[in-house]
Amino acid sequence: METVNRNFLLLLVLISLSCIVQCTHVSHDGRALIINGERRIIISGSIHYPRSTPEMWPDLIRKGKEGGLDAIETYVFWNGHEPLRREYNFEGNYDLIRFIKEIQNAGLYSILRIGPYACAEWNYGGLPAWLRKYPGMQFRTNNQQFKDEMATFTKLIVDMITKENLLATQGGPIILLQIENEYGNVMGPYGDAGKEYIKWAANFAVSLKAGVPWIMCQQDDAPQPMINTCNGFYCHEFTPNNPNSPKIWTENWTGWFKAWDKADPHRPAEDVAYAVARFFQRNGTTQNYYMYHGGTNFGRTTGGPYITTSYDYDAPLDEYGNLRQPKWGHLKDLHAVLKEMEKALVYGDYSNEDRGNGIEVTKYKLNTTTACFISNKDTAKDATVDLNGSKYFVPAWSVTLLPDCKTEAYNTAKVKAQTNIMAKKVNTVEEPSALRWSWRPEPLKKQVEDKHFSFQSNQLLEQITTTFDESDYLWYMTSFHQPHKKQLKLSVGTTGHVLYVFLNKRLVGKQYAPNGGFEFTFERNVTVRHGKNNLALLSATVGLKNYGSFYEQMPAGIAGKPVKLIDGNNTIDLSNSTWNYKVGLVGEKKKFHLDFRPFKWISFMLPVNRPFIWYKTTFQAPSGTDPVVIDMFGLGKGEAWVNGNSLGRYWPSYNNTAQGPCGNCDYRGKFSEDKTCRTGCGEPAQRWYHIPRSFLKSGEPNTLILFEEEGGSPRRIQFQTVTVGSVCATAEKGQNLTLSCPEGGSISKIDFASYGEVHGKCGAFQKGSCESQDAFNVVSQACVGKESCSISVSKETLGANNCGDIPFKLAIQATC
Ligand code: GAL
Repeated sequence: METVNRNFLLLLVLISLSCIVQCTHVSHDGRALIINGERRIIISGSIHYPRSTPEMWPDLIRKGKEGGLDAIETYVFWNGHEPLRREYNFEGNYDLIRFIKEIQNAGLYSILRIGPYACAEWNYGGLPAWLRKYPGMQFRTNNQQFKDEMATFTKLIVDMITKENLLATQGGPIILLQIENEYGNVMGPYGDAGKEYIKWAANFAVSLKAGVPWIMCQQDDAPQPMINTCNGFYCHEFTPNNPNSPKIWTENWTGWFKAWDKADPHRPAEDVAYAVARFFQRNGTTQNYYMYHGGTNFGRTTGGPYITTSYDYDAPLDEYGNLRQPKWGHLKDLHAVLKEMEKALVYGDYSNEDRGNGIEVTKYKLNTTTACFISNKDTAKDATVDLNGSKYFVPAWSVTLLPDCKTEAYNTAKVKAQTNIMAKKVNTVEEPSALRWSWRPEPLKKQVEDKHFSFQSNQLLEQITTTFDESDYLWYMTSFHQPHKKQLKLSVGTTGHVLYVFLNKRLVGKQYAPNGGFEFTFERNVTVRHGKNNLALLSATVGLKNYGSFYEQMPAGIAGKPVKLIDGNNTIDLSNSTWNYKVGLVGEKKKFHLDFRPFKWISFMLPVNRPFIWYKTTFQAPSGTDPVVIDMFGLGKGEAWVNGNSLGRYWPSYNNTAQGPCGNCDYRGKFSEDKTCRTGCGEPAQRWYHIPRSFLKSGEPNTLILFEEEGGSPRRIQFQTVTVGSVCATAEKGQNLTLSCPEGGSISKIDFASYGEVHGKCGAFQKGSCESQDAFNVVSQACVGKESCSISVSKETLGANNCGDIPFKLAIQATC
């Protein structure tokens, strides 16, 4: 017995000793997170694991690390992990543990926002629709049933990561956990129940004894020991609600999400860098980019109905995982300088001097070490600022960082990183004309004839609580008698999102809620016949709402809105007729997208512009390793699968309503998603759809299956690869200009090189009146054939020019 006890004690000592060596102790004070006894600056980036594939994760994480990140942040997506109650999915792109282990393998920290409410432009904000099966269930408030389900899932996740030793205290990468998400923004209408709920959430989180700090974002009343944190385009003015909480910025929005009805939003690199620099200037110590890689909403995961399948977000890594330059590089340069200043920023004395006219000079002093920031928040006027007898040129809306308070190491408006202009290359083997298409119709007959239904009701039922989101589609079918053939007006009030109306087996119209709206009334003159008439309404959701107080109560479908036939002054209300219901489509139920053997596909008379058609083709994977996309131009709306993997919903027929203005972007001044920096006004909101390489097989045919709901033509479909087309950069005298092509590529030719007076921007450089005669040759010799080249900008290397006093620079554009 004694030996057993002694052995047990020895084991305990060994465990705790190994912990002293391997475990990371995370705490905080009012200044910063403290990791193993040291205050630290943490720069983190969001990568949502289900929005890419496990095969992509290592590369995305590596690019984050190379870009200067210390940590990767993600939400946990409850409805992806528990699609049916107590039936879990942690496979494939939902393999959370594998994702966190990849982060650990890369030597980075991880921030896990369990929520489990996420928002995130994700279907239903991440909450499972099956929760709605329980009467009395109310989301995100002091509701016992909700709290029980939330607790069960949250505990499951904490248990899983604990079992895998992924918490910092166990030697794992997780340094912070989040409970709830931005509840403070919506809690008002919940009244006291909301306040109780947040107290409960905090106590519950603490009770899990995870050993790392918990955060709550946008929660001014976050109870201790929760750290309340800030989300937004700028967070330098944020102050946490407790002097012992450090200033943490959980969401620095690097861009914005795309919506079907809007042109593409862009947030310039200069402005993201400005916001980060302002945050660290004002005592911020931990910040996370939302998103660092946005990725793709595969399957039916968009929060809707306005969110596109692409969740590119204009992030430092693009949807496909390519570096978005100059954003990635400009932020990388900033991170390096911040790291140089780290000790002074987290331990130094802070003094801030307001010099008027929007100029602030900030000094951090630690013994003999100093670090300074000069910021100019004027949106138009550049400034020359005096610091310790030296003069610094600080452009409007910019921040200069001086790690020793003397040398300008970085200015947020002076972008040195190269710009990459991406190109889509056509895969010549699979010309649209070479693709062989076959097809089959979605069998609608039984529905439009009202011959097959699952249940009846004499009410118009709300869609989400009828389908529980097991399909986008719900059929509402009824019949009515008419004494004579005549024209009537049919009116269907719906809460969205898309409606198809069939009368006596004929499609008489369709409509969708434009501009992300939900409610609309469909009105059409129709001819009814003498006797029995069949009315079949097909309602389709396009992702469930993800945000707002009581958002789960936002209805979908023809929920109690009248369905009427109007005959002059006479109205026949069909709302309480006998309605027959059927959830989903036949092709969905039979899994046409998996292409089981017995399915018969028709290979002649390809229908085009006909709704409710399934299409199939096979194709060879484009060679190489560049990301693959499919150009869906010509199609309407539907869903696409490659080898059974969903690429998400597609909707290239949806032209955004030119919400701009486009093409006139000025980074100066507070950014908002509707500012000037959009592109693609009036074009399809999303024409290209990502096919991750891991979905493809090489050397054998791949199967593409489309369900075309609205009607379109697959004849123009093209497979393309996305690659860096050209690269360009500028530099001033005394600087170095570096250009690189992606790994494995090389610079094939110089398209533009001038050392002198250069106008215009990357992609559209123009020579001015003076330049060096030698520059082009010097640059060509230094760069062509190389993966990367660096040129020091001086007249010694590039030859003299005759520009006199005109400020001159070196500008290069090259093809990779
Ligand atoms: C925040 C939210 C995120 C995301 C973001 C917009 O309010 O916390 O999950 O939705 O807005 O992209």
